[in-house]
Amino acid sequence: MNLFRKKSIEDVTAGSSHPLQKHLGVRDLTAFGIAAIIGAGIFSTIGKASYDGGPGVIFLFIFTALACSCAAFAYAEFASMMPVSGSAYTYSFVAFGELFAWIIGWALIMEYAIGNVTVAISWSDYFTALLENAFHYHLPTWLSMDYFTARTQYLASFHTVGRNDGLEAFTTAPLLGGYPLIFDAPALLINILITILVYRGIRESRNASNIMVAVKLLIVILVIVVGAFYVDTTNWHPFLPNGIPGLLKGISAVFFAYIGFDAISTTAEECRDPQRDLPRGILYSIIICTVLYVVIALVITGMVHYSELNLGDPLAYVFEKIKSLQWLSGVIAISAVVAMASVMLVFQLGQPRIWMSMSRDGLLPAAFAKIHPKYHTPGFSTIITGLMVGIPIFFIDATTVTDICSAGTLFAFCLVCGGVLRLSVQPGYTPKFKTPYVNSQFIVPILFLAAVTWILSSDAVRANWLVPMGSAAFWAMVPQYLFLIGFLWFSVLCFKHKFSLIPALGLLSCFYMLSQLGLRNWLYFSGWLVAGLVIYFAYGYRHSKLAQKSTT
Ligand code: ALA
Repeated sequence: MNLFRKKSIEDVTAGSSHPLQKHLGVRDLTAFGIAAIIGAGIFSTIGKASYDGGPGVIFLFIFTALACSCAAFAYAEFASMMPVSGSAYTYSFVAFGELFAWIIGWALIMEYAIGNVTVAISWSDYFTALLENAFHYHLPTWLSMDYFTARTQYLASFHTVGRNDGLEAFTTAPLLGGYPLIFDAPALLINILITILVYRGIRESRNASNIMVAVKLLIVILVIVVGAFYVDTTNWHPFLPNGIPGLLKGISAVFFAYIGFDAISTTAEECRDPQRDLPRGILYSIIICTVLYVVIALVITGMVHYSELNLGDPLAYVFEKIKSLQWLSGVIAISAVVAMASVMLVFQLGQPRIWMSMSRDGLLPAAFAKIHPKYHTPGFSTIITGLMVGIPIFFIDATTVTDICSAGTLFAFCLVCGGVLRLSVQPGYTPKFKTPYVNSQFIVPILFLAAVTWILSSDAVRANWLVPMGSAAFWAMVPQYLFLIGFLWFSVLCFKHKFSLIPALGLLSCFYMLSQLGLRNWLYFSGWLVAGLVIYFAYGYRHSKLAQKSTT
């Protein structure tokens, strides 16, 4: 059994000749990047992260941006070397072999399809609020929430006083086969519209994305410029009210705000000059978004006290508070709807292209790679993606999936950074775009020693780390123990191989963030990976083109 059979870079690029249309240039790619990055994260989840971390949440934005930029360099390097649609899946195939490639392809479903469930639900929340505030139309509750959330709230209403949305949904919904019909109609509707657009063509998707990006950038800049006049610097004291632990609570939310830049690498086969434009598009979009995020975080935590920000629509809230600026909160709601639709568009574009690559390798049935004769898009995969997003909308709530989506994405980033490091020490490695080299030989081991010294020198931190084995506190720390062990091993590798520092830091910082997501998310994610492995061994391993090659 050969689980680590690999493809060469030549195999990968030779296997991609087919009729996708090449319409994308560097401006479109940067726009796609911004389209995928700025969405539910900044319009919604930033509220809770600011509440937990205070104005100092900007440190988390900067740290996450640095981690993502390191990973972005690795993506850019790979994309310049293998300008094909599979993104991290294809890169891992070359660097680590088929089994890892499958695992990454499977993990990316978490990022794109399941991530889109979160975005669709947040989109629906903003959309229903907009209908209510701007058009005074109240969408029936049974049409604006998922069944299971409604059921939980309905059952809870037996023990509490007063009404809640679940109770309202259960008592007003029509019955279907004896069951109340409750579902999130706007989330489903936006999913169907986006699926149609992506199915229809890359040029149509690009044009729609460019318009949406222009709208959201305009609004974000307007928010910053107008909001800056209302900043009261006393709100920035204390800057880090809950210390580092408070800050770290926001990791998943802040990371979620950056997810998406990697999705542009899936359009490599639709780029006019992917080797030149993809690296630029990835890096430009991440730089632009980081600047905007840090300034927005400063503006909103300067306009109101951070303790008021524990809400789902923080941008709209800060403007609603200022009488003369209430009109702006409506504009923000509209732009949130546009921004989130653009995130969905790019994610829904990315997922089918990864499946297309997996199918070309024989790991998925041939239908997944079929290109629509008229629209030149992977039509079947696009429809399946629409279903993968649409079906969970009926029964999943957004908070459950944000963390798992972040876990899947961080895992992919770790492997892409690791893949660059692994290939870079092999002879004949000459990507068109090369990350600037700084030797990590001493820096990474010194960072490891600094981390251990920090853990041992502070009583509070040491108490967290040194807990009785088998206790609840011990299990909660397991992801962090694994991180420290991995850090030690990686320090040895850096010392031995003189790895390039930027991808090395990318791997370490993404692994660190992964270790902060908590044991529960690790277990969910591991369950997902095990399910993927079962499918791989039942189908992919035997149908793989490499398996057929080796038997002929
Ligand atoms: N970064 C994307 C968003 O915030 C996923 O919606």
